[in-house]
Amino acid sequence: MTLLKITRMGHPVLRRRAEAVSVPVSAAVRTLAAAMIETMKDAPGIGLAAPQVYEGLRLIVFHAPPARAGDVPLASAPLTVLLNPEIEPLSDTMAEDWEGCLSIPGLRGRVLRHDYILYRGITLDGERLEREATGLHARVVQHECDHLDGILYLDRMRDMASLTFESEWAHHQARNGESA
Ligand code: NI
Repeated sequence: MTLLKITRMGHPVLRRRAEAVSVPVSAAVRTLAAAMIETMKDAPGIGLAAPQVYEGLRLIVFHAPPARAGDVPLASAPLTVLLNPEIEPLSDTMAEDWEGCLSIPGLRGRVLRHDYILYRGITLDGERLEREATGLHARVVQHECDHLDGILYLDRMRDMASLTFESEWAHHQARNGESA
């Protein structure tokens, strides 16, 4: 098992636009994706983008476990590796919910995201993948894709008053949170 060091806020790689991944996918990118999955699970988190492990590539890994996503169609997702992802909002509806980030440890804040999206990208096998998503699934994909454009969830917060230390958050919020 390979665990990678996670980039923390302040490192420039988190603020740069990441480069497209070449297809067919190299052995190095496959190895990177496998290590990112291990690192995400170990953290633990529900998503990780390559810039969060010092690699400026458009590569994300994520999942939206049904137990956390609620019983809503399209809100959960299996463990997924996606290259060169793109997002298209399918509705004007926005939803605000808590987010955390493995590159900003110890904090959580409320972030407004599109509630219903279409995303597409390329799998490690070079095949096109296209899915609709809502809820937690839509949120984690938008969070990870933001990382590829140098955007952190703090940039998306409309009101910094919700920014909370995890220890305080656990006292004052009803459910468990995720980091991505
Ligand atoms: Ni993050």
